[in-house]
Amino acid sequence: MKKEPKIIVHGGAWEIPLEEQENHIKGCYNAVQAVWSDLQKGMPAHEAVCTAIRVLETDETFDAGKGGVLRANGTVELDAAIMVGKSHSFASVMNIKEYMNPIDIARALLDEDFSILCGSGAEAFAQEKGFPRISNSELIVEREKKRFATLKQENKYSLAEAFMPHGTVGAVVYDTEGNLAAGTSTGGVPLAPSGRIGDTPLPGAGTYCDNTTGGASATGFGEAILRVLFTRTACDFLREYSPMESAKRAVEILHDITHSFAGIILINSKGEYGLAYNTTHLARAYVDAKGDIIATI
Ligand code: GLY
Repeated sequence: MKKEPKIIVHGGAWEIPLEEQENHIKGCYNAVQAVWSDLQKGMPAHEAVCTAIRVLETDETFDAGKGGVLRANGTVELDAAIMVGKSHSFASVMNIKEYMNPIDIARALLDEDFSILCGSGAEAFAQEKGFPRISNSELIVEREKKRFATLKQENKYSLAEAFMPHGTVGAVVYDTEGNLAAGTSTGGVPLAPSGRIGDTPLPGAGTYCDNTTGGASATGFGEAILRVLFTRTACDFLREYSPMESAKRAVEILHDITHSFAGIILINSKGEYGLAYNTTHLARAYVDAKGDIIATI
């Protein structure tokens, strides 16, 4: 029997400034709207995740794709991951500098024998697959140039503090076959060294999916998230608890152990939503039981 599909996306957990709030809400709404009709017609979960994240990466509001934060060397480096709940297939790419949509490269890697590619190897794979190459400067926006200049001037800068202005994106989908998929994409944290990897492209840290429990995507300070295998922890809680309670418990564990901040979205094996965050906002959108797209922070 066909299932009622579900989709939830996020656009980062932090204190989103007033002047940026509308764009975050609109961006999340657009990502859900871009896939909702195809999802109802039977689009597989992993394709829907990829399409929704591509919309978020192309929207310069978020710290993913165009609009990614600048590293210490003034460049943008992108990471993305996707995981399929039925097969447990996982693929991710790291330190992408010359492609707008790293989620598409991760999606292509799902069909290969290797799971994770980084740097020049990931970009060579993207080129082989025919993805359009762009210059790194095309990923850089004025907002991030200004942030970079300000942070460079501040001697008190630390990676943990710099995480706060930050908008990793992600999506979790439950399709008409009852299959789950999850994906996440990020530009990382401002002023991080070139080559730094956070939680996003690591399975069980920023991205996790298992049809028997659920799928989850995280946002927040990667160095903390990966220490508690945040998304895997939340999905394990789904064996015992509701999606909302599971997300809440995972955030509590993250905060107890690392004293850090994050947000998480998830869907369980029955197609029920969960989310939690210990930041001021979590930009997100989902389709409710009436079929309406709800976007909020
Ligand atoms: N959560 C994204 C990162 O820390 O890279």
